Formats: sequence, structure tokens, C-alpha cells
Amino acid sequence: MFKQMLVRKSIAQIQYEAKTHSLKRTLGKWNLLSLGIGCIIGAGIFVMTGTAAAQYAGPAIVLSFVFAGLACAFAGLCYAELASVLPVSGSAYTYAYATLGEVFAWIMGWLLVLEYGLAAATVAVGWSGYLASFLRDIGIFIPPQLSAATGALVTLADGSKAEAIFNLPAFLGVIAVTLLLTLGVKESATVNNVIVVIKVSVILAFIALGIFFINSDNLTPFIPENEGPGKYGFDGVLRAASVIFFAYVGFEAVSTAAAEAKNPQKDMPFGIIGSLVVCTIIYMAVAFVLTGVVHYSQLNVPDPIAVAVDAIGLGWFSFLIKIGAIMGLSSVMLVLLYGQTRIFYTMAKDGLLPSFIAKVHPKYHTPYLNTLMVGAVVSIAAGTMPIGQLGDLVSLGTLCAFAIVCMSVLYLHYKEPGLVRPYSTPFKPFVPLLGIAFCGYLIAQMPWSTFVQLKLFFLVGVLIYLFYGRRHSLLAKAAKAG
Ligand code: ALA
Repeated sequence: MFKQMLVRKSIAQIQYEAKTHSLKRTLGKWNLLSLGIGCIIGAGIFVMTGTAAAQYAGPAIVLSFVFAGLACAFAGLCYAELASVLPVSGSAYTYAYATLGEVFAWIMGWLLVLEYGLAAATVAVGWSGYLASFLRDIGIFIPPQLSAATGALVTLADGSKAEAIFNLPAFLGVIAVTLLLTLGVKESATVNNVIVVIKVSVILAFIALGIFFINSDNLTPFIPENEGPGKYGFDGVLRAASVIFFAYVGFEAVSTAAAEAKNPQKDMPFGIIGSLVVCTIIYMAVAFVLTGVVHYSQLNVPDPIAVAVDAIGLGWFSFLIKIGAIMGLSSVMLVLLYGQTRIFYTMAKDGLLPSFIAKVHPKYHTPYLNTLMVGAVVSIAAGTMPIGQLGDLVSLGTLCAFAIVCMSVLYLHYKEPGLVRPYSTPFKPFVPLLGIAFCGYLIAQMPWSTFVQLKLFFLVGVLIYLFYGRRHSLLAKAAKAG
């Protein structure tokens, strides 16, 4: 049994499949950069920067972005090597299958459910916050009980408090995206480019305008005095780093496009590292302006950037920010859900999940059963869970996945020193080791309740693997048959 759990796909076989696949190689390096930025900029910057500053770091949230960005940079350099050696669409799942073995591939695939599926739910909650705020501006009121997580305390119009029932907009948003994906509306590179331009423009405009309204009183003290574990002080900066780590999730989505890249060897590292660098700079600037314009204590709201713009007194601009956020977050949701269905599709093709998951609709040519199933689960998560809890779970799962990617690079470094690497992670073994250390440190900042949820999630995964995946794995069957 243990032998099977460590069975590996052959690198040569994956490379052969990559060379002979039928996808067209159409994406250049700027497309890849845009794809990365399109996936990265979302609820993390539009929502969590405010909530994490208010609850944990104060203005020092800027430093949290540096810390989380470093963890991503080390992991990103490892992703770049693997994406250049194995330019296939399965990304981290396939890397683990080719290096550490089947059980790690399974764990990775299961963790990616958090990184993609649950991240889509998180973004949907952020999207719902901006949508409710936008609708309010034009005179349409969604009852607070129907626009927050089940059980959350909300303030009603008369000032009284009540428990929320369900986040209806978030739920409906996921359902809408699911239907689009089922019908085969895949965002084209052109649409993605347009949305990226709009999203980045409103953010740059926020920085450019906001900088003139910074009140230095809001920024002092830069690191508020510690008030207990994870609450302000340096401890809070690290806790906030583990929260806003979510803002970087998605850069590795560039690696899933490796099979469609014109020149994956050179352009993968450019796309991955380039989008990380651009986003880190943007994030630090937004965080600085945001906490400079409004005191951090007022930022624990679903639409912090719009609140800052309102505080400056530019009502029309707040309107634009909301439209930019709603459009930008919709596209992130679409890409994340799309990624989730394709990961399940690849796993089902390998026999690790039931074959109906890879079943393609005769007319729409989409894995429709898989998409509908994913959409149902994600929409319920979006309707019932608060953004903080969802975000922590996504970050924890993603940090574990990044650590496994760094381990895969270490594995190849020692086991396959002669392997041709079109791009090689620099300063090995230090960079992958630093990646593991930084991710481990951020993992340690997570609240205990998130670990408990991860354990339960993991348990379900292990049971599915033991009772289904292990028995139906095509690779294991082939290995047995010699
Ligand atoms: N990084 C993406 C976001 O912030 C997932 O929404």
C-alpha cells in the first residue's frame, strides 16, 4: 500500500504529453503577466487590507504585505522552476505527482480545493459587500440579515442588532458564475486584459488621489501598541500577514497556463515573478494611503476602499471604485471556479476521483457535472461563512500547498541533479528552504479554530483517497500491470 502511495508519474512522460497536447500556444509574456495580475488583485486588497489593519496591524499592515510577499516570492521562484520543467496545466498537483508521489499529489489536489474553490467563496463575499454598498448608493436596499454570513450580528436600519440569516448576493453571485462556466463562457484573454486594466486603473487612481489626503496623525504610531496575542504590535503585524496572504493567492494560476504559453521556459518566470512584484508594490501603496486617509479603527467594514474615498469627500469616485471592485472581483471568482473544476477534471482523468467528474457535456463541451457540483458547494460556503473565516482557511491551505511545492524543488535538486531545467530556482537549496520556513511561520500565526477546520477537511480527503482514489488510480493500476 505504501509503495502505491508513493508511485510517481514520470517526468519524461509528462513532458512528452506537454509537447503533444492539442492546446494552442498563444499566450505571450504580457498575457501571462496580465493573467497573474487578473487572478491576484481581488478581495484581499479590496476588503481584507482594511479589516486586517483594523483588527491586527494598524498602519503597519504595509509591513505585513512585505512579509507575506516574501513568502510568496520564495514559493514563486520554486513554481517558476517546476512550471518550466513541467509546462502542463495541472500545476502543483502534477508537480507533486511527478516528484513526491501519488499521496502527495492527492494532498495537493485536496489543498487546491481550498486555494481555488474556497477562495472563490471568499471573493464572492467581498463582491457581495461592494455590491450591497453600490446598490445602497442607487437607492436599492438589501436587508442586512440577507447580506452577511449566517449568525453574524448586523445593525438594522433602526439601529437595533439582529442575527444574519444568509449572504444572498454572495450565494447568487457564485450560482451565476457557475452557470456561465457550465455553458462554456470562459473568460478570453482579451476580456481578462480589459478587466485588469479597469481594476488596476481604479486602484492607481485611488493611490494618486488619496496620497494628497493623508493625515500623518492616522499613521502614528505606525505600529500600535500590542494589546494581546495577535492584536497590534509586531505580533499583530505577523498575524495580519497571515490574513492578507490571501491577497497574493492566485499568482501561481499563471503556471496553469504553461501548456498554452508560447515560450513557457522564459515567460513562466516572467509571468509569475513579474505579477508578484507588481502586486506587492500596488498593495503596499494602497495600504499606506488607506490607513493614512482613514484611521485604521474605522476600516473593519465590507468596503474599506470606498469608505476611504467617501472620507475624502469624493462621492463620484467612490462610485467608480465600487464598479471597478464589482467587475474585478467577478472575474477573479470566474477564474478561481474555473481553476477548481479543471483541477478536479485532471484528478478524475487520473482515476483519483469518480469518472463522472471528467464527463464533458455533448453540446457545451464543459465538465458540467463537476462544475455544478463545485458551484453548489462553493455557493453554500459563500452564503453561510464570514469572509475572515473563509480567508484564513484559504490562506492556511495555500501556505501548506506552497510548502509542498518548495519541497518538490528540493526533491528534484537532490534526486534529479542532471534534469534539464530551462529555468532553475536560484540559490538552491536556500530559496526553497526559506520558502518552507516563511510559509511555516505564517502557518503558525493562524488561529486554532482554522487548524481544526483544516483537520476535518483533511480527514474527508484522506477517506476519499483511501476508499476511492487509491483503488482506482490509473497510474497505480498501470504500475501493477507492469
Ligand atoms: N488574491 C485573490 C484575492 O485577493 C484571490 O481576491
